[in-house]
Amino acid sequence: MAKKTKTIAFANNKGGSGKTTTCANVGYSLSVMGKRVLLVDGDMQLNLSLSFFDEEQVLDFAMGERNLYAAVRKEEDLWDYVVHTPYENLDLIPSSTLMSGIEYELFTKWQRETILSRGLARLKAEGGYDYILIDAPPTLGGWVMNILCASDYVLLPVEASPWGLFGVANMFEFLDNVKKLAPELSLLGVAITKMDARKNYGRQTLHILRQYESVNVFESIIRVDSEIEWAQDNSKPVMAYKKSARSAGEYMELAKEVERYAGGRGQHQKSGGQG
Ligand SMILES: Nc1ncnc2c1ncn2[C@@H]1O[C@H](COP(=O)(O)OP(=O)(O)OP(=O)(O)O)[C@@H](O)[C@H]1O
Ligand SMILES: [Mg+2]
Repeated sequence: MAKKTKTIAFANNKGGSGKTTTCANVGYSLSVMGKRVLLVDGDMQLNLSLSFFDEEQVLDFAMGERNLYAAVRKEEDLWDYVVHTPYENLDLIPSSTLMSGIEYELFTKWQRETILSRGLARLKAEGGYDYILIDAPPTLGGWVMNILCASDYVLLPVEASPWGLFGVANMFEFLDNVKKLAPELSLLGVAITKMDARKNYGRQTLHILRQYESVNVFESIIRVDSEIEWAQDNSKPVMAYKKSARSAGEYMELAKEVERYAGGRGQHQKSGGQG
């Protein structure tokens, strides 16, 4: 039997919570583990595309016809929109700055919540990918609904800060609504990002999140690491930029947890909505 592609959305409407960084680095770590991974850049900021290609190349994708916006607008199969990154086992569907107009485009379409899901159907069935990872923008509208309807799981990166926590409650409420349309969607877990060991609030964030009984909080915590920014400045995942970087190891550990829960081998203890 053909292996099943697992699709994971990296979503949180709180801006700057680490969605793109986590999507790029978990994706790269999974590819290093020998998994075949397709990354989908669902944000007009193009940050996921910029994590693997230089600005000139990313703008080239964005201005041309080979990007997610062009495909969704025309409701096309995404098969021909895949580009190879410089890394083995790791492909990408780039984004476009025109994504800012995606809500308007969706508005006029039939069955608008499942356009992305339908566009990815052939890649899921025949693409040979173990994982499709989708980077969502910091919004909660029809487009993020599309991303979630195309996914088996959602991974929620949360910045270790009071406002980071505030956004989580909104997100759980939105997920409960999405589940009316996509009952199979489940919360893979909450990943704590940008933890600053010098600040007590990081520990408080962890304590509060662990009180949600039905929510899996990943053991691997991503601490603040300036190597991440240098890596992004060089259009590289942190492990490819500096193998010995602390965050490279942390992201590898997080990817192993993702594989344990989503890859079907381990038992996911906690699933779905609020505690
Ligand atoms: N562990 C880390 N250490 C230091 N800086 C980090 C870390 N993780 C992310 N950052 C930085 O924090 C900023 C926000 O991260 P990122 O872009 O991944 O968040 P996001 O949730 O995708 O943001 P947006 O909501 O705008 O899409 C970026 O400038 C990134 O370089
Ligand atoms: Mg982002």
